[in-house]
Amino acid sequence: MIKRREFLKATGVGGAAVFAGADPLSGPAFGQDVKTQAYAAKDYARLLGTPGFSDALLKNHFTLYQGYVTNTNKVLDALAQMLKDGKTAAPEFAELRRRLGWEFDGMRLHELYFENLGGKNGIDAGGKLAKKITEDFGGFEPWQKDFRAVGAMRGIGWAVLYQDPATGRLIDFWINEHDGGHPAGGRPLLVMDVFEHAYMIDYGLKKADYIEAFFKAVDWTAAEARLA
Ligand SMILES: [Fe+2]
Repeated sequence: MIKRREFLKATGVGGAAVFAGADPLSGPAFGQDVKTQAYAAKDYARLLGTPGFSDALLKNHFTLYQGYVTNTNKVLDALAQMLKDGKTAAPEFAELRRRLGWEFDGMRLHELYFENLGGKNGIDAGGKLAKKITEDFGGFEPWQKDFRAVGAMRGIGWAVLYQDPATGRLIDFWINEHDGGHPAGGRPLLVMDVFEHAYMIDYGLKKADYIEAFFKAVDWTAAEARLA
């Protein structure tokens, strides 16, 4: 049986966010009295007033995001309770496990999205992200064409510029809903929400106009900071 200290070392689990208020390596035996801290919704009110995004749209979007945070916590709590109650063979456990990726990614992708919004300047052409994009796509324009095309795809989901940590290569991915199509271990550099709720209040069915507004509002400093 794996000892708790070994588990924590192997998984990296044990920060303050997971074992609140206790030294994770000197606390109770693994599996006993583990105190978990719920995820907290972040405040993105600083984005209100972003050109191309009405306050009504943003406020609705913040509320929706908060729902993902709440549901992520609810699903995690329910799964922990089922583990404690010995109900891991129940179909409800399997369904909640499947649901977890959807709620969690819905939470995290919105955070990444809001955090790469609110910029006022274009990408720094001499910066490391612009250089990397040019290396991998042959220029900023070809990359942008690809990313916009991904965003314009029919369906609900996300366009994400990912960096493959194994090679450093940048690749645009379509993420179906919130949880389908993520490259394992990938670093999300730029995240664009293309669910209809992200633009319909302001743009109706004109998704291309929303994508245009998104590009004018990208915080490239935030995106570049994510580059490995
Ligand atoms: Fe969204």
